[in-house]
Amino acid sequence: MSGPPFDAFRYAHEHRREVAWLSQNTNHLLPPEIVRDALAGAVAERRYEGYPYAPGTPELRALILEDLGFPPEYGLIVSAGGTEALYMLTRALLQPGDEVIASDPSYLIIHRFIELCGARTRNLDIYQPPYRLTADRVQAEINPKTRMILLIDPLNPLGSGYPKEEVRAIAELAHDHHLLLLNDVTYRDFADAPTLAAEFAPEETLTVWSVSKNCGLAGLRLGGVAAPPALAQKVGRFNTNDLGVNILAQVAATAALASKPRWFPAIKRQTRENQTRIREVVARVPGAFLPVFPSQANMFAIDVTKTEVSPEALQKEMLLRHGVFVRAGNYLSPKFGGRFVRASFSNPPEDIDRFVASFPLSVDALRVRAAPA
Ligand SMILES: Cc1ncc(COP(=O)(O)O)c(C=O)c1O
Repeated sequence: MSGPPFDAFRYAHEHRREVAWLSQNTNHLLPPEIVRDALAGAVAERRYEGYPYAPGTPELRALILEDLGFPPEYGLIVSAGGTEALYMLTRALLQPGDEVIASDPSYLIIHRFIELCGARTRNLDIYQPPYRLTADRVQAEINPKTRMILLIDPLNPLGSGYPKEEVRAIAELAHDHHLLLLNDVTYRDFADAPTLAAEFAPEETLTVWSVSKNCGLAGLRLGGVAAPPALAQKVGRFNTNDLGVNILAQVAATAALASKPRWFPAIKRQTRENQTRIREVVARVPGAFLPVFPSQANMFAIDVTKTEVSPEALQKEMLLRHGVFVRAGNYLSPKFGGRFVRASFSNPPEDIDRFVASFPLSVDALRVRAAPA
């Protein structure tokens, strides 16, 4: 009799103290005292007893806009992670029959939100160089139903980043064709030269941001959307968090953003060193390769097609036998998910040591087991 299917997340959470968490692009490198001290102060003051100021504390709002380089009067919705903002804005701005130009692979929860509105995505295959959208290909997809372009930069899961000229060209298409431009910049701090699309299409762009990855606060759930005030107001009508976002999350995000210039450069350096070490070990495994290197984010895909090992089997093998949690690609790409695992690497070097030791062993073990006796 077969039991319920293996739940990797349940297993990993139950074993979280032993697991090297390379599966969700979370950041495990933030100096812990920053959040610890801020939260301890807020708990001592019992700030959790009252509702927060609903739009978000003025201090936090000012820090977010400054971090993104937007003026103080710009529109801003603070939400429970970027995810909630993505839900709100698709609900508010898309109608049944609308089309959104997007990619495959992509961060598919956004596609799901789009579909919930009765709209659909037109997914451009980008699992080949340059592993991202290009303005020419976007332009070729624009039709009378097109309402929005989804520009995730840097892109989860591949780690590709957009050069400034490509951002400009895509933004100009949005402007010229009166399309909304959803610019998800969750990973921008990890990029060498991030560009905001709002610079080139200020009226059309909604910028979705988050403190989950840059500030290592994924568990606290805080992010949002910045847009011109009228557009932000339209989105805000769908804000279910009418009483404001968790006050402890706001306090932690404030402390992290205020001090980010001091500690983020070291995190970025460590993240780059880590991805170089992963590249070295991937190069030693016949058939495996990295489509994108260096990643402009804190993750990339490792293509394992030619190893003849399935990403799901590899995820399970690495997690159960080695306590290393990477993610099979199928939740990030209907078409190409069977070809890669995604690994994130804003982790301490010890976690990367464990990846380096376990990846070749796991591929070998699965190959041996699959070989005819
Ligand atoms: C591209 C992208 N956007 C948005 C999010 C949502 O982040 P959060 O809701 O934690 O802010 C993620 C999370 O992985 C992501 O990869």
